[in-house]
Amino acid sequence: MEFFLDTGMVDEIRQALDWGILDGVTTNPSLIAKTGRPFLEVAKEILELVDGPVSLETVSRDAEGMIREGRMLAELGDNVVVKIPMIPEGMKAVQVLESEGIPTNVTLVFSPSQALIAAKAGASYVSPFIGRIDDVSSDGMKLIREVKQIFENYQIETQIIVASVRHPMHVVEAALIGADICTMPFEVMKKLFQHPLTEKGIELFLKDWERVPGRPF
Ligand code: E4P
Repeated sequence: MEFFLDTGMVDEIRQALDWGILDGVTTNPSLIAKTGRPFLEVAKEILELVDGPVSLETVSRDAEGMIREGRMLAELGDNVVVKIPMIPEGMKAVQVLESEGIPTNVTLVFSPSQALIAAKAGASYVSPFIGRIDDVSSDGMKLIREVKQIFENYQIETQIIVASVRHPMHVVEAALIGADICTMPFEVMKKLFQHPLTEKGIELFLKDWERVPGRPF
């Protein structure tokens, strides 16, 4: 499963790249607003840093506007993926952009039927938002299982990006289901490393090392 960071923060992206575990980045208007920086400056910096796909979101509500914005975003780099909201006008835009070789990521997906529609429109990626479903006392991961099953039934090649991830178990469950990609906040990615027994084990080994005679380091 590929790991994407769901962020607009360039320093977070740099750290994940240093760890060697980053395959791509997703952003949205809220994440860009959080940076407090001009959109084009942030987008260009991310695109230069990351070799993998970088999702940048359109904000128009009509197909014409989304297509115009999508073409503009695609000019920023070869690895741009245009994020399009899951609405009928969005599906018109997906068809046009994909036919021009511009990959799209259909966002704000909350049901299997929406995922199926996005795939039928030709989207390269679909982003079911699991955390927001959990937030309303429903089962976000069930959606991933269902979308995965539907895509397998029909050999659909649209990749599933598990989005709106809140904690490490979301990532583990997504991997068990066999989702293609999990996009996560930096805090969740950091937590994936952590285990109290690892910390405890390191402390014990270091303490015992102090008793080893002739230590070369
Ligand atoms: C995905 O592409 C979205 O940017 C993101 O995962 C939304 O997550 P949130 O529900 O934590 O805002």
